[in-house]
Amino acid sequence: MADLIRSVRGMNDFLPAQSALWRRIEGAAHACFARYGYGEIRTPILERTELFRRQLGEHTDLVEKEMYTFVDALNGESLTLRPEATVPTMRALLERGVAARGKKQRVYYVGPMFRHERPQQGRYRQFHQIGAEAAGYAGPLADVEQVLMCRRLWEELGIAGKLRLKVNNLGDAEERRSHREALVSYFRDRQDELDEGARRRIETNPLRLLDSKDAQVRAIAEDAPKLEEHLGEESRAIFAEFESGLARQSVACERSHTLVRGLDYYCYAVYEWVFDARGKELTLCGGGRYDGLAGQIGGHPLPGCGFAIGMERLAELVVRATEEEPEQGVAECEVFVVYGKACSGEALALAEALRSAGICAAMDTDPSSFKSMMRKADASGAPCAAILGEDEAAAKEVSVKPLRGQGEQFRIAQDKAAQKLKEMLDSGP
Ligand code: HAM
Repeated sequence: MADLIRSVRGMNDFLPAQSALWRRIEGAAHACFARYGYGEIRTPILERTELFRRQLGEHTDLVEKEMYTFVDALNGESLTLRPEATVPTMRALLERGVAARGKKQRVYYVGPMFRHERPQQGRYRQFHQIGAEAAGYAGPLADVEQVLMCRRLWEELGIAGKLRLKVNNLGDAEERRSHREALVSYFRDRQDELDEGARRRIETNPLRLLDSKDAQVRAIAEDAPKLEEHLGEESRAIFAEFESGLARQSVACERSHTLVRGLDYYCYAVYEWVFDARGKELTLCGGGRYDGLAGQIGGHPLPGCGFAIGMERLAELVVRATEEEPEQGVAECEVFVVYGKACSGEALALAEALRSAGICAAMDTDPSSFKSMMRKADASGAPCAAILGEDEAAAKEVSVKPLRGQGEQFRIAQDKAAQKLKEMLDSGP
């Protein structure tokens, strides 16, 4: 036997039992976001590499190390599997003229993203996000409303109690530039205490030193100049409005000065919803404002804000919070059709009639013995079996056998079976 060719590291398969949970979560998100007037957008999985390189920041970890980039052998173009969807979404809205000058558009998306990170708990190379973007909205009311959207989704999924909201003010581009200069000068003065990687970061992306994983770097960063000291009156006022807007809607949050987000496009209010995962803090959802992004992509200036939720982490939280076991408890069908070898045609017709009546019907399409089919019916989790032996077929009848609970087996005319079964299933166990 040939060796099994396995999946790519950090990329998962989702089998039906797990997909059912994902569909439920996605359904809750579709319904929740629609209530806020957001419509679904679908953009390609592949984009031109330069789109991400410029917009996410040349010196971010994401662009430097994590993008799946390759040259299209057919035309030599450099393409990248999308590592996130804010940039493609804004590209699409600008390119399709939806977000023309002065126009506004609220959209959300659900789909896979790709980052070549080291796979570990809660971190994958293909993962999925549910995200929302409000293009053309200057905020901060739009930002507050998006936080409320998230809160509503957490409540509907029963996980609100597990999450904390952290917020920070990243100011405008000019304020960040002045803070950056102060940081460069501070870290240059202490570069002897830093390793080579951190020293390189001083010149490329000193902001990332502030949330470094290295304890020594973090200790030095403690006394580094704070962005807060470089913020002007206007951006402080915008952020204060965001915070008071949250307070007015009874959303509790904590200010975190080290919350810088990993991507370059952010300004003003940014936030993360975090939870505790076996003693480690993980971010479920990150977002914020990105007023400079549209102009950088090449469109006219357009304010915007949004967030994205990691689906794998969300599913884990939902399972934990509701003690829902994704591998169990999902019945394969409502009626399992068991048939004699000579009656496969009639059985298929019966299953079709049941489906036409809105019943989820299954049968073993690889005929086996009656006993083995009954075993499969039992294992399927279906509440009842419809049995079509040669006897039943000759009498144009079918036997209905309840598989769970106390009900008695009975026979019924084939043309009445669908209606009877529907009534039985609708009236519950
Ligand atoms: P992000 O913080 O890079 O933001 O990702 C958002 C969420 O996606 C994270 O909080 C996490 O739950 C999930 N996530 C990220 N990387 C991985 C991974 N390797 N494995 C599993 N889950 C992961 C963004 O992507 C921004 N586009 C969010 C945004 C939208 N900002 C404004 N609009």
